[in-house]
Amino acid sequence: MNNNSQLETIEMNLLFDAIYRKYHYDFRNYSQASLKRRTKRFVKNEGLNSIAEAIPKVLYDSASMIRLLNEISVTVTSLFRDTEFWQTIRHTIVPTLQTYPSCRIWCAGCATGEEAYSMAIMLYECGLWERTRIYATDINPVAIEQCNAARIPLTDIEEYNKNYHCAGGNAALSDYVTIDGEYAALKPFLRDKIVFSQHNLVTDESFNEFHIILCRNVLIYFNNELKDRVHNLLHNSLCPFGFLALGKKESLTSTTHEKSYTCFSNTHKIYKKTITSNQTPQGFDEILLRR
Ligand SMILES: C[S@@+](CC[C@H](N)C(=O)[O-])C[C@H]1O[C@@H](n2cnc3c(N)ncnc32)[C@H](O)[C@@H]1O
Repeated sequence: MNNNSQLETIEMNLLFDAIYRKYHYDFRNYSQASLKRRTKRFVKNEGLNSIAEAIPKVLYDSASMIRLLNEISVTVTSLFRDTEFWQTIRHTIVPTLQTYPSCRIWCAGCATGEEAYSMAIMLYECGLWERTRIYATDINPVAIEQCNAARIPLTDIEEYNKNYHCAGGNAALSDYVTIDGEYAALKPFLRDKIVFSQHNLVTDESFNEFHIILCRNVLIYFNNELKDRVHNLLHNSLCPFGFLALGKKESLTSTTHEKSYTCFSNTHKIYKKTITSNQTPQGFDEILLRR
């Protein structure tokens, strides 16, 4: 490491320590390369000369803290992202959900909400609407605002339409959107079953017990220690036999919870929580399985 890069690392540590003390956002165990790149972009955009100058800036100006948060959080997402993943959910997990009296789903790190809307559309089509509740959370308050607005640029509609059909959609995507100027807006009824809220996977607690948790393309930004901590939270938030879905490039291998799940789909990184003998199964199929 050269002298400059060493100094930058010291400045980064001081910045994120200060942010933790003032705002309680904890980025101290995020993967360094991406964090540094994004912090430097923030420094440039704010017209600052160094990472060190960002310390008083974010401490005394909370609006600039939100801008930094928005820069650090990578909100890339899309409707029915990884279409084969959604096909797998539709064909292999929905039949299990259909045996449950209710189904609670958590999209953890939902960015601008497309994943939660994909889930809502799929469950609507699979007849699970009345018993569904989807909680969609993200650390980024700007992204959460966009979730509620549910606007899609018209330029993305063609790709989303393709995704929707490849994912097994059995109607037309146009049934779920209305055109509003340069945007398409997802129809408000889809929000009836979704609760969008700010939640920090690093510093906040578990808030419910879920049948499915999607935490896709979030943990890639964390170091191994932080991954373990968040896996603990996810594990505590899943009911027995609940499903955990990670992103395509993520896995449970080498995490402390590797043995707490069976692998349901290695291709799509879907895992099923195993139960200990004193836990009670929830779904009808699971009761049959245990007989
Ligand atoms: C690449 S997006 C993934 C979106 C969606 N899950 C998907 O796969 O399409 C990663 C999201 O994780 C969120 N994130 C990062 N750190 C987080 C944390 N500590 N708690 C909650 N969300 C976090 C970011 O704000 C960002 O919106």
